[in-house]
Amino acid sequence: MFRIDGQVAIITGGARGIGAGVCEVFCKAGAKVYLWDILDQGQETAERIAAEGHNISYQKVDVTSKSSVEQAVQEIIDKEERIDILINNAGVIRDRSFMKMTEDEWNMVMNVNVNSLYVVTKAVLPYMIKGGYGRIVSASSVNSVNGAFGQTNYAASKAAISGFTRSLAREVGKHGITANAVAPGFIRTDMTDSMPEEVIQAGIRAIPVKRIGTPEDMGYAYLYLASKEAGFISGITLHANGGVLPL
Ligand SMILES: NC(=O)c1ccc[n+]([C@@H]2O[C@H](COP(=O)([O-])OP(=O)(O)OC[C@H]3O[C@@H](n4cnc5c(N)ncnc54)[C@H](O)[C@@H]3O)[C@@H](O)[C@H]2O)c1
Repeated sequence: MFRIDGQVAIITGGARGIGAGVCEVFCKAGAKVYLWDILDQGQETAERIAAEGHNISYQKVDVTSKSSVEQAVQEIIDKEERIDILINNAGVIRDRSFMKMTEDEWNMVMNVNVNSLYVVTKAVLPYMIKGGYGRIVSASSVNSVNGAFGQTNYAASKAAISGFTRSLAREVGKHGITANAVAPGFIRTDMTDSMPEEVIQAGIRAIPVKRIGTPEDMGYAYLYLASKEAGFISGITLHANGGVLPL
């Protein structure tokens, strides 16, 4: 396992699903993790992981709110004096075919998935530049490339994340900072658990490695890009989907 001992990491949307898996893997790899989420479930997730002897704290943060984000960043800086890793994982879906999609559904997805990148990265980046080191990894999706019925808003938002990442990488490289994205495929989370079993099985049949992904699988993909060893990799979107080749 790549080690990130003592490194200060923010993981957004860490209360459950992929984000919780990333928190667990980063803790096992030695990081000091700050779990951000709007859900109080973040407290339970942090306590569960801390009970295994790891260094993790929950901060109730809305990634679309500048004041909420700036306050949490200040608390971390007051305590740790630096931030090494930022995982922009928080995201939402509001699926509906385009002709039926409301403006609120469009704006909600853009606000949480895209505008939050501006708010959170803008608040954290000055400290990474000051420290001369940083790893920023954001959540894209296989559907950003392939598209999906009912996901014009979501696919557009996730494609925006890859474009943001490619551009940011060009700007921050000179400061020892890399920017990358992970594009998860079909991953077992609360969202997929609510699907009918036959839909899950059909999805699995289409995956070359013949299983659904886990939050832990995603944790290792994020860990690699967040490691010191990945310092020559920047601007990419890593497709972590069991071999489903994006179009
Ligand atoms: N599950 C999959 O199959 C899959 C596939 C591709 C991409 N992704 C992406 O991976 C990320 C995690 O997905 P997941 O399946 O674990 O989703 P999830 O809904 O289980 O978790 C997302 C977390 O983000 C949090 N969140 C939402 N809005 C927030 C806000 N304004 N501020 C702070 N936190 C907020 C939620 O409370 C939740 O805990 C998302 O960006 C998603 O788009 C997931």
